[in-house]
Amino acid sequence: MGSLNIEKLRSETPGCKNVVHFNNAGAALPPLAVTNSMKEHLELEASIGGYEAAQAAVDKSEKIYDLAAKLINCDREEIAFVENATRAWDMAFYSLKFNKGDRIITAMSEYASNYLAFLHCAKHTGAVIDVVENDSFGQLDVGDLKNKINDKVKLIAITHIPTQGGLVNPAEEVGKIAKENNILYLLDTTQSVGQMPIDVKKIGCNFLCATGRKYLRGPRGTGFLYASKEILDQCDPPFIDLHSATWVSDNDYILNSSAHRFETWEQNITGKIGLGVAIDYALKLGLEKIWERIQFLSDYFRQQLSEIPAIELHDLGVNKCGIVTFTFKGKKVGEIQQYLSKRKINVSISLEEYARLDLSARHLPALVRASVHYYNTEEEIKTFCEAIKSMLNT
Ligand SMILES: Cc1ncc(COP(=O)(O)O)c(C=O)c1O
Repeated sequence: MGSLNIEKLRSETPGCKNVVHFNNAGAALPPLAVTNSMKEHLELEASIGGYEAAQAAVDKSEKIYDLAAKLINCDREEIAFVENATRAWDMAFYSLKFNKGDRIITAMSEYASNYLAFLHCAKHTGAVIDVVENDSFGQLDVGDLKNKINDKVKLIAITHIPTQGGLVNPAEEVGKIAKENNILYLLDTTQSVGQMPIDVKKIGCNFLCATGRKYLRGPRGTGFLYASKEILDQCDPPFIDLHSATWVSDNDYILNSSAHRFETWEQNITGKIGLGVAIDYALKLGLEKIWERIQFLSDYFRQQLSEIPAIELHDLGVNKCGIVTFTFKGKKVGEIQQYLSKRKINVSISLEEYARLDLSARHLPALVRASVHYYNTEEEIKTFCEAIKSMLNT
């Protein structure tokens, strides 16, 4: 397996000339191919009309289903194109019916929006949320998950890579337990799709949500849902329209038999085309290679940061991903972000309310999040560390 040609990849990423971008877990820099495909479609819309442009570009926009299916190893009928990962996740979650006493199992690192939906569901239905403990590495404890299984468990819903750190939860082991016990499994892969190889057959999840703008390097306002065909019939979407369902008689309708039952008629065609190009770009590079490079860079990043005395690293887990989190003694995270931003270095901040169970248990109200992608370099990491060191003297 040859390695990635980083120089070429950077030359295809105009943003690399302007910024040191360590906010890939927020939104990565897109490759030129993505931006150009979208500009082209916007121009076509302006020149011949939106509906007419959609018709003319239908082959390009439809590719998203085949490409997303190839990316995660499923069938195109199992993919719904939606606006973002939250909408994908919500469409899956709210399509399930919970009764009083039904249990939803999740993990300590769960993302805020997902946990809010559990709370919302618990409030309205009387369902109960069960949180699996962490193991000694800070990952979801598979033994504790097994202990929590009983015939009231309706759903296991966890986050693969959380927003707030380098942790990678053991998604496949969870899938085995879900399958053995015939329990539905919803996996949030917002931060892992595009960062590492994802195979829904190996993982064994029934649903998966993904977003376009993060590790896939696609456009904002795009995402997709995977819903396995075995469970589609059990899914009653929370709302429907004339695309997700057909009005067959005055008093009746039938739901679309594919995952399109989770879509709406009106769609961001430009985004659909751009996301397809982004997935194609990732597939051509190879997800194994991308993952290898991201792990190499983030290990190097953690090692460099660990040599700065005022820095405390906070990433959990056994095999860590591209999200590097830290605090800096005596400095507020907002100050650090601003200081770096003035030097054209982008990072983001994770606040307690983004992942309350995890961050409050670790007494971490806020973290700096520096997330690497394959197009980042060791030189950029050195520049980052020099900037952090120079902040020590301010
Ligand atoms: C783990 C995780 N899940 C879900 C989301 C929400 O994704 P989106 O903003 O595309 O809805 C995020 C966003 O940061 C995330 O990190």
